[in-house]
Amino acid sequence: MFLVTGATGSLGRRIVRLLRDRDLPVRAFVRLMSRYNELEDRGAEIFIGDLRNDTDIRRALSGIRYIISAHGSGGDSQALAYRANRELILQGQESGVEHFVFISVLGADRGYEDAPVFKAKREVEKLLYGGDLGYTVLRPAGFANNLLSAAERFRETGIYLSVGDLDHRTSIISTDDLAHLAVESVSCEGAYRQIFDVGGPDVLKRGDIARIFARLFNREPIIINPPLWLLDSVREGVGFFNPEAKRELGTFRTLLANEFYCSAATVDRVETVYDFKMESFESFVRRYLGS
Ligand SMILES: NC(=O)c1ccc[n+]([C@@H]2O[C@H](COP(=O)([O-])OP(=O)(O)OC[C@H]3O[C@@H](n4cnc5c(N)ncnc54)[C@H](OP(=O)(O)O)[C@@H]3O)[C@@H](O)[C@H]2O)c1
Repeated sequence: MFLVTGATGSLGRRIVRLLRDRDLPVRAFVRLMSRYNELEDRGAEIFIGDLRNDTDIRRALSGIRYIISAHGSGGDSQALAYRANRELILQGQESGVEHFVFISVLGADRGYEDAPVFKAKREVEKLLYGGDLGYTVLRPAGFANNLLSAAERFRETGIYLSVGDLDHRTSIISTDDLAHLAVESVSCEGAYRQIFDVGGPDVLKRGDIARIFARLFNREPIIINPPLWLLDSVREGVGFFNPEAKRELGTFRTLLANEFYCSAATVDRVETVYDFKMESFESFVRRYLGS
């Protein structure tokens, strides 16, 4: 039995779908108010709980062989990105879990001080390296599905909004491909106790995304490109009333201020180990939105 956390998220949903398509037993860890009907309809066992609660984690782990940790930080990296994963690992070790697939983030090892999610992911990775569980750490670049609403807006208006340097590079990953890698990780020999940076096959500048949309939807782009200092000003303002929110915004700022891309050799390593061809961002958008 698989336990999938973040099962109602953009990645988690895809993981549950894949597992159920293969008729594999899966327990979806969801919150009471989440939209989980689709998962239930597909035959997933629904476990209602909160990852902030250790007892819920212990109960959810009963009879579990594989954990795929795909939950978000919900604006509280300490509790969710770090502590909930630590509990899943420690309690998973005790209850005989065989393999832990951890969705980390590209750049988790770069030591960003001002990015709570990156720091939490790095600490969780260290727990895995030092522990007894079988594991695979996947460190993805930005997910392609994040940009579907931007693509739809572009189709309607031609507007493409991007904060910060348009020359910054990224290797946007097909969220479907990442779900596939997560599922395969528990049985892929070459992925056992390994870390993979994972990104799509193309290194794209942020400005290239507007050009891809222009090609797909056959219209001239209107690029709106606010500078990063604007976000910094907003963040300062937020910090005045809510210091915790200001800290959490550090992750978002880190994502905007830096480059997150994978070299061809990195993509090749993933494709070779998993015997799988990664999809381009353009193909992902075309598949979901047509052209
Ligand atoms: N999106 C990206 O571009 C990106 C890039 C690199 C790495 N990642 C990592 O990939 C993973 C998946 O990202 P995503 O974009 O698919 O996430 P997402 O769509 O934001 O989903 C987050 C999931 O976490 C669940 N969750 C939040 N708080 C919870 C709690 N207290 N108890 C139980 N469940 C809780 C949410 O449940 P509800 O439905 O109840 O809200 C939801 O299912 C995350 O670990 C993220 O850090 C994402």
